[in-house]
Amino acid sequence: MALVTTTEMFKKAYDGGYAIGAFNVNNMEIVQGITEAAGELNSPLILQVSAGARKYANHTYLVKLVEAALIENDIPIALHLDHGADFDICKSCIDGGFTSVMIDGSHHPFDENIELTRRVVEYAHSKGVVVEGELGQLAGVEDDVNVSAEDAKYTHPDEVEEFVDRTGVDSLAIAIGTSHGAFKFKPGQKPMLRFDILEEITKRLPNFPIVLHGASSVSQEYVKIIQENGGNLADAIGIPEDMLRQAARSAVCKINIDSDLRLAMTAGVRQVLWNNPAVFDPREYLKVGRANVKAVVAHKIKEVLGSDGKA
Ligand code: G3H
Ligand code: 13P
Ligand code: ZN
Repeated sequence: MALVTTTEMFKKAYDGGYAIGAFNVNNMEIVQGITEAAGELNSPLILQVSAGARKYANHTYLVKLVEAALIENDIPIALHLDHGADFDICKSCIDGGFTSVMIDGSHHPFDENIELTRRVVEYAHSKGVVVEGELGQLAGVEDDVNVSAEDAKYTHPDEVEEFVDRTGVDSLAIAIGTSHGAFKFKPGQKPMLRFDILEEITKRLPNFPIVLHGASSVSQEYVKIIQENGGNLADAIGIPEDMLRQAARSAVCKINIDSDLRLAMTAGVRQVLWNNPAVFDPREYLKVGRANVKAVVAHKIKEVLGSDGKA
């Protein structure tokens, strides 16, 4: 199967009350772990690449790894640029085979965000590529953009209609209390997402696909393995899975997950190396990390997103 855009998968997800997982990829083992899980569960999938991933692995390597995954797994896969910071990186990914890009103008003033996003949409649509925009700012690290928790700005429902009308975006990322990374809430703090804001946005944008970034749950099982095998991730806390299930049933059609894959990979690698100091064959530890990534993605698809059997 060839790469697809997200148009069809979002429509089905919206109508079916489930969400598509958008998983970040950085190397072969991560691509394999994710796509094997989705392939076995017959789930549609979004593989996303950040600017950092392109810097690390090289655009061509990542595209070719995803093409290999398409040969090995008969499921619809969209290849998406995560947090495109400017027109040039979006253009480079559009020209380089991606089927979806995010232009993240959320840190710009409203009108500048619109102008930048509109320009990307115009180019992307002329090439058959879809675009995700963002309104509101998440706490945590968005690629090179660092937003502190106090500065996180929830999306204003009053702005969404004008933003979508004037830009022509195909989906919209919103800020309702999620954040990037493995430390989303302070110890003792009650995790909270602003579902009231999501509801208001949905009223203003009926049948429009919403995207949730910063949606890792930070499995305490993997945190414990990391801690017990020489790591230091005390107080890592994520979004409770019940909240993500609630989001997946709503207008949220795309749920972004990266940190959970990093934790799964790191737990596997640490476990092997910490307990077997003589191991120096990368395959010995990477295969355990890859198996963990696969297990995490299978769990998300079946138990949280509900996209199994929807390919
Ligand atoms: O939103 C951020 C993603 O987790 C990507 O992170 O820029 O370190 O690749 P990265
Ligand atoms: P997490 O850090 O919660 O996995 O979020 C990833 C993300 O939003 C990528 O865009
Ligand atoms: Zn993000």
